[in-house]
Amino acid sequence: MRKKISIIGAGQVGATTGLLLSQRDAYDVAFVEIVDGLGAGKGLDMLEAGPILGYDTYVEGTTDPAVIEGSDLVIITSGMPRKPGMSRTDLLNANADIVRQNATIVVKYAPQSIVIMLNNPLDPMTQIFYRESGFAKQRVIGQAGVLDSARFRTFIAQELQVSVEDVTAFVLAGHGDEMVPLPRYSTVAGIPITELLPPERIDALVRRTAGGGGEIVALLKTGSAFYAPAAALAEMADSILMDKKRILPCSAYLEGEYGIKGIFFGVPCKLGAAGVEQIIQIKLTEAEQSALERSASAVRAMVGELGAS
Ligand code: 2OP
Repeated sequence: MRKKISIIGAGQVGATTGLLLSQRDAYDVAFVEIVDGLGAGKGLDMLEAGPILGYDTYVEGTTDPAVIEGSDLVIITSGMPRKPGMSRTDLLNANADIVRQNATIVVKYAPQSIVIMLNNPLDPMTQIFYRESGFAKQRVIGQAGVLDSARFRTFIAQELQVSVEDVTAFVLAGHGDEMVPLPRYSTVAGIPITELLPPERIDALVRRTAGGGGEIVALLKTGSAFYAPAAALAEMADSILMDKKRILPCSAYLEGEYGIKGIFFGVPCKLGAAGVEQIIQIKLTEAEQSALERSASAVRAMVGELGAS
């Protein structure tokens, strides 16, 4: 039997993630979408793409949350997207209620699943899900670092005119303006970019990465990024469901790692069948550690506002 992935929310990110995962031909995919017909329509359309794209993935969609029963993985994408001029923080209260409703659904129908969250502001929303669901911390993960690192990798590859395949990057901390790209741990074929680019060029790439979500929002005007976020979700799903144990930057619950306690925060994680199987601690300079702490304060403030600490 194939592993089952449920995707709550069949909007741009949810649907794109569903198509990417359908194309793996390794899982079954179910959408839950509150807009009547949207989940069912996209699910059927994706199922009908199977003969052309060469997958036997069973894809379905419905408004009925019971469809998530038996899921190994639940990906939560439903929420309000950012609008131009809107910060991730503006979304705080609107999305918190949606997350609480989704937690109730997941606890009821898929209590054994692992959950990846996507709603913004990402780290506090992941924390709300964790608190509401009562799930073990290993089974609740936020997607942000893979996306932010992919943006940094793109910009590094463009700058140096090399293949993205040879570029690795780590972006840690909260998914917000204070995120912390780590140039010393970002490499081209193993060579740190600090040896390949002057500091002012690195600073420019770091700034563009931190503003990467906003750059897309400003271009699209209606909605936020979805191709790269969906690709990030699919990569995390593969690592968990195929027990690949990839080391990916994700939002995980910290209990003292990096000197930070009691919040979800972007750190390097080993993702496998049990979810977050390990948080990898890398050595930071004083400046990097202070940047992490600045970002942690921003996340803590939002969590406090929501009463989710
Ligand atoms: C992004 O970074 C909107 O947070 C989302 O694209």
